[in-house]
Amino acid sequence: MANIAVLGGGRIAEALISGLIEAGADPRKIRVTNRSAERGKELRETYGVMDLRDNTQAVDGADFAFICLKPDAVVSVLNEVSDTLEDNDHTTTVVSMAAGVSLSTLEDTLSAGTPILRVMPNTPMLLGAGMSAIAPGRFAHEEHIEAVKELLETVGEVMVIKESKMDAVTALSGSAPAYFFLMAEALTDAGVALGLDRESAAVLSAASIHGAGVMLRESGDSAVELRANVSSPAGTTVAAIQAFEEAGIRSAFYEATQACVRRAEALGQENAE
Ligand SMILES: NC(=O)c1ccc[n+]([C@@H]2O[C@H](COP(=O)([O-])OP(=O)(O)OC[C@H]3O[C@@H](n4cnc5c(N)ncnc54)[C@H](OP(=O)(O)O)[C@@H]3O)[C@@H](O)[C@H]2O)c1
Repeated sequence: MANIAVLGGGRIAEALISGLIEAGADPRKIRVTNRSAERGKELRETYGVMDLRDNTQAVDGADFAFICLKPDAVVSVLNEVSDTLEDNDHTTTVVSMAAGVSLSTLEDTLSAGTPILRVMPNTPMLLGAGMSAIAPGRFAHEEHIEAVKELLETVGEVMVIKESKMDAVTALSGSAPAYFFLMAEALTDAGVALGLDRESAAVLSAASIHGAGVMLRESGDSAVELRANVSSPAGTTVAAIQAFEEAGIRSAFYEATQACVRRAEALGQENAE
């Protein structure tokens, strides 16, 4: 199995590590870094991975280096590891998970010829249900794309896209699990307002969101068809849908996703070299 370095052992790194191990990866081949020894210990004890404070040590000899840092830390950490990557006997494929940091910024930071791919993942990767979009850089050839795709397919679905679509993908899948958590929270509160106890309301909300997701993916029907199928004339569901539409739910999605894209663009500008 490949040697994998994961720089920045936070939430998205943990989702990746956990998903890879769940899918059969050898934890001893995974080196994860962060500055806090306490967090490193937690990852080591939970997953059996090697935890390091030193980013250069992590990428030394690595086949893949996953950059799971906050956008503002990416360039400085890449500067830190750039020489080690260059000195590696075999090519290390660099995979950046950071929102907003462009391929050109990443490529300008590392030596020319380093295969770099940008990936927009999402946290359901933790349970093998992730959605990752890959945008390959100038030096990422078919073999690098296939290798990264194969790794990420062990933790969910993968789509190859052009970098110009990355911010839109961030708004659609990168950030979207949070939209549905918010929806579950709001539906639970609404259930409590209707007299249900909170625990039952939370179970009913989460099970409905899960069930609707499974139907969307597995029934072969579109969202429009599925919704029409449960909206009987003058029925209860259509009454609720009408209230959602009157409250502006559709425009809330346009506005929220546009706000997400604006923020990704701003992060990109702040973190450009
Ligand atoms: N969370 C999501 O749902 C999601 C979805 C899609 C994409 N992303 C992207 O994934 C990236 C990480 O997000 P996150 O939510 O996982 O953030 P996070 O939980 O804050 O993780 C970042 C980690 O980086 C570590 N770190 C900071 N500076 C470091 C350094 N110099 N060397 C080594 N480690 C360092 C931090 O630990 P220490 O402070 O201990 O060093 C922290 O554990 C972001 O760029 C984000 O855009 C996240």
